[in-house]
This record gives sequence, C-alpha cells and structure tokens, in this order.
Amino acid sequence: MTKNLAFAILVAVGTCQHSPQTTFTNPILDTGADPWMFRHDDYYYLTYTNNVNVKLFRSKSLTQWSDAESKTIFQPVPGMNYSTDIWAPEIHQIEGRWWVIFTADPRNDSPPPEVEMWCEYSCPAVHHRMYVVVGMGNDPWTAQYQFQGQLETYDQFAIDGTYFRHGDHLYHIYSCWYRKYDGWPANLCITKLSNPYTTASRFSERQIISVPEYAWEKTPFGRASNDRLSSNEGPQQLTNPTTGQEFLIYSAARSDNRNYCLGQLELVGEDPMNPSDWRKHPYPVFYQNPSESAFGVGHASFTTSPDGSEDWMVYHGMKDPTNGWSARTIRAQKFDWNDDGTPNFPKPGYGPYQVPNGQ
Ligand SMILES: *[C@@H]1O[C@H](CO)[C@@H](O)[C@H](O)[C@H]1NC(C)=O
Repeated sequence: MTKNLAFAILVAVGTCQHSPQTTFTNPILDTGADPWMFRHDDYYYLTYTNNVNVKLFRSKSLTQWSDAESKTIFQPVPGMNYSTDIWAPEIHQIEGRWWVIFTADPRNDSPPPEVEMWCEYSCPAVHHRMYVVVGMGNDPWTAQYQFQGQLETYDQFAIDGTYFRHGDHLYHIYSCWYRKYDGWPANLCITKLSNPYTTASRFSERQIISVPEYAWEKTPFGRASNDRLSSNEGPQQLTNPTTGQEFLIYSAARSDNRNYCLGQLELVGEDPMNPSDWRKHPYPVFYQNPSESAFGVGHASFTTSPDGSEDWMVYHGMKDPTNGWSARTIRAQKFDWNDDGTPNFPKPGYGPYQVPNGQ
C-alpha cells in the first residue's frame, strides 16, 4: 500500500509539472471593459477599453492573460477630436489589412455649454465619433499601424461601431441617436461602407435597426416616462458555423449597473439595410446571475477554442454592481447553439470551468 501510494504521489506531481491547467476561473482580467478577442494563427489577441489609447495583447491561451505580451498600437496626439475617451476598440482583418475601429471624443465627455444646451437631456457624449486605424501586414502583432481617419456618421453621436459583413458587402453598425442632440435613447444604426473607412450611404439612407423598446432595454428596468439611459450598444456579428444564420448580439440597458445584458437580432431577410429584415428576440439572451454575484454582463465578443471545436464568448461584468463602470472585469465562457440555430449562452459566473478544447 505504502509503495503504491508513493508511486501515485510521484505520478501526480509529475502531472502537475508537465500538464497545462484543465480549469480556469473568471475573471480572466481583473480590470477592463468592452473586451474584443480574436484568434489568428497560434495566438489569441485581445484589446479593450482603457480610455487613453489602443493596446493589443497576445497570449497562446484564451484564458491566461496575466503575463500576456502587450503593445500600444494607437496613441492619439493631444488636442484632436479623437484624443480622449478611447472606447471599445476592435480589430478586423479585411482584404489583407488590419482595421482598428474605435470610439473617441475631443475633451473627455465635456462639450462646451453652448453645444450641450441643445440636448433634450444632458448629453456629454454629443461629440463621440468613430475612428479607424489601419495596420499593414498579415500579422496583427508586427503590422505597422497608422491613423486612417474618421468613419463618417453624419457628424452625429456614434459609439461602439463594428464591421458587419454580409455577402460581398461591408456595413458599419454602431450605437446612434435619432437626431444630433437627442442624448437618448441610444439605438443601433447601420450604414453601408465602400471600404473600412468610407461611408457610402447618405444620411437619408442610414437605418435604425433596433431601439430600446422592451422593459429590459431601459434604465431603470421598465422606465415608462422617457428614454433617458436606455441603450442599445456594443453590436457584434455572430455567425452560426453550422447553419450560416447571421446574428447581431448587442448590449442593452446601461453599462454602469447590474441590468446591463445582451440582446439578439437575427438577419432573417437578405438586406441588412432593411430594418424589417432583422428579427429581435423579445428577451435578453445573457443577463445577470445574482446567485453567483455576476452582474452587469455585456459587451461580448466571440472566438473559438484553439482546436476550433468550441465557441467562446468574452465579455465584461461586475461582482459588485454598486460602484459603476470601475467595477467591470473581463470574463470568458463557452457557449453552444440551440436546435433552431440561435446561440445558447450560459449563465454568467466565475467557474471553475474547463479550459477551451486544445488549450
Ligand atoms: C471636430 O468635431 C466638430 C464637432 O463634431 C466638427 O464640427 C469639426 O469639424 C471636427 N474637426 C475636424 C478637424 O474634423
């Protein structure tokens, strides 16, 4: 017995030294919001909102980021319209280049009073716009990044923009207001692009494909009197790899409290610029889980396990929902698909969970 036990301990110690971890816990990063992760060749790449610049991180592991390499790929010069509040960066490979799309504004969310006075409610975000940086080269790590310019949104509020690809066409989907000085609600708008930095459709062709209409898209929950703090934002394209169904997963309600959640649009027609070709799910598809102290979960992006067999979501959430934006941390979980082809997101939590297949 003693000899067998000793042997077993030896084997166990050997296993610990040479095998990678089989589980992980959330969060995968202790601070940060609006995570955007993708896999390219043998690496995962991650960027997220840090307010001051765009940093790119890379790791061989989807869930291990504490010792990841990092580099700054965009540092704005001061005094420009895009110098502050750098939010929600994403990096897409389109036609052989890396396109960094992000939100920025000129002066830390504080427009002059003679601009702000036009808004129906307070609207510090009135000067937020979308901007593009391009990276030349096939490898996102060694690519040479340079500022490309603004992505036109008709000189109106625009945040959380993403590229949406359908057929041969490229679209910009972003969080928008109906009119220049609305303040609220924040809707989802779509415009057509002729390339990743050029809007091809006129203002009259801009379409609103989602507004915060349900109780869970408003803040506070079910707010009846007006649309203040009611948001649709953080849109992300998600394609069912088996059926080809196209989804737009977005964030709803308000990012600084427990009710932030994910909503779902499905493209059920042929034309993303036709609002009636989108079908909205009447309930949130990913939302707070108080029994595990997982609150304010949203702004997801999507990637796969190293062997490509599993779909993973990377999102932010809060353990303490009472302290606003600074409480957000970055998390990852596996998700599946329902029989009707829609994504089946898990309940948010902290694990431990199995690491991605092949990690
Ligand atoms: C900066 O933003 C303001 C307000 O949107 C706009 O009127 C102005 O043309 C912008 N400046 C440049 C150089 O784009």
